[in-house]
Amino acid sequence: MNIQDISNKNYFVFDAFGTLFKTSEVKAELTKIAGEKTDNLINVWRSKQLQYTWLRNEMNRYQPFSVVTKDALDYSMRLNGITDEKVFDILLPLYDTPQLIDGAKDLLKILKDNGKTVAILSNGTCAMLNNGVQLTGIQYYVDHILSVNDIGIYKPQPAVYQMALDTLEATVEELIFFSSNQWDVSGASVFGLDACWINQYGETKEGLPFGTVVETGSLREVSEYF
Ligand code: 2OP
Repeated sequence: MNIQDISNKNYFVFDAFGTLFKTSEVKAELTKIAGEKTDNLINVWRSKQLQYTWLRNEMNRYQPFSVVTKDALDYSMRLNGITDEKVFDILLPLYDTPQLIDGAKDLLKILKDNGKTVAILSNGTCAMLNNGVQLTGIQYYVDHILSVNDIGIYKPQPAVYQMALDTLEATVEELIFFSSNQWDVSGASVFGLDACWINQYGETKEGLPFGTVVETGSLREVSEYF
């Protein structure tokens, strides 16, 4: 498909964290505790959070994203020799009180104005996603909030992308999946969904398998096709 064909789709399904939601900046507060280890603390936390979801999938040992996120932070703190429990209070709420990525609200509104069905498909728990949607004021534009918590398995397992088709009662031809996360774009498109990679961080394309993928630089750019 071409990016211009995007407006022919009827079902618009979005990844949450990193795609619609950014986790707000707390570096100043954190630096008071973690000092020069702040960046490493955050980077290890985020990469372990993902790794733990994938490893738990492999082992059939699902735990909700809130648990995995805490376990990853606990590891990163121990690795960095940080014991102050305040770090949990600073970082963990980021997933419950996220901020919208630039252009997200405008795009969602345009989609609703055009009569499209909008869904979120995320590793996040229902509580995280509901909070995020309410707090950022996009509840009027989002028709469905789909959490992997309902099936107990994380992306990029095919069952997650299948859940979107089943719940929305959509065909692959009618649906497009948006994510900033390349591993998620890879998983969705290899499963068979048309996918749009929002390459808002100017990343180099990963050496992963990809199906049908169109690429844009931002959510704002997607709005221009309507
Ligand atoms: C998601 O929202 C974590 O970005 C991932 O599913």
